[in-house]
Amino acid sequence: MKRTVFAASLLLSTLFAIAQERTFIDPGGIWPDDKGNHIQAHGGGIIKIGKTYYWYGEERRQGLDREYRYVSCYASKDLMNWKYQGDALKQADPENLGQRWVLERPKVFYNKKTKNYVMYFHLDDAKYAYARVGVAVSKKPQGPFRYVKSFRPLDKESRDIGQFIDDDGTPYLVFESRPTKGFYIAGLSDDYMDVVKEVSFIHAPLEGGAIVHYKGLYYSIGSAMTGWKPNPNKYATSPSLSGPWTEFKDIAPPATNTYSSQSTMLIKVEGTKSTTIIYMGDMWKPSTQWDSRYLWMPVEIGDGKLWLPEPKKFKINVKTGEWGLSE
Ligand code: DGJ
Repeated sequence: MKRTVFAASLLLSTLFAIAQERTFIDPGGIWPDDKGNHIQAHGGGIIKIGKTYYWYGEERRQGLDREYRYVSCYASKDLMNWKYQGDALKQADPENLGQRWVLERPKVFYNKKTKNYVMYFHLDDAKYAYARVGVAVSKKPQGPFRYVKSFRPLDKESRDIGQFIDDDGTPYLVFESRPTKGFYIAGLSDDYMDVVKEVSFIHAPLEGGAIVHYKGLYYSIGSAMTGWKPNPNKYATSPSLSGPWTEFKDIAPPATNTYSSQSTMLIKVEGTKSTTIIYMGDMWKPSTQWDSRYLWMPVEIGDGKLWLPEPKKFKINVKTGEWGLSE
């Protein structure tokens, strides 16, 4: 009898915990989705369609079929509570790349003209020698996405990718290219299916590239290339996407290795009262990837400076754009 009561109260408290609204973001903590599972959207990217944010990323939950690579999709209205939308992409090796083929850092753009959701991702073999982007499309944000093709953007080797959507809606792909030791900001074709224009080449060997436009300046951030290990991420600014870009400077005290994280995106929350820029980073756990965490934290930004303060639990109001520490 006692046992039944205990089991029932455990079930109730679990259900209650799952149903409870989250009122904060806990950088580095377990981040449960609406089903109570830790969010699986590593190396991710976020787009906003109407009032809904969609978060896409590498799905690395335990027990996945190793034949496939998965991209997950989550939806949220407030950036704190995320509803799992399922596997947006479940992909078998599309180009005979071998058992340990790689699909990383998916990013999705929405094309208003074609009404297509266009997903880009880093496609590679186990040696990271293929160095291409893969492209998949869907009519719905949550997928299923259909693989279309792969290519080298601007005919260049491409590994980590990032995405930037300017204030006027123009989409850009950011990609790291080792032979020229830097990263490109490139424009897409009208249907978003191709990378057609070199907008900028930034001569700094950085990956995990991300960009934001804030009060007349473009800020780009990236990490050094140290595999899954964190390093001091850096930023540069420019009045125009095409440059000239300043030298790169630290975004956090170098000894913290960006508080053990690696950049993947800068989220701009423009509200009625304020604009907040959130640094979105991955805290990788290479041998237990499913347990990798997310480090999100509003940055101090303006007048050519960008600084990631020590991460602490915070809340964000996407309507007003204001944020504050939680508790
Ligand atoms: C660093 C990249 O940023 C990650 O996306 C991943 O490719 C790892 N390297 C692999 O070592």
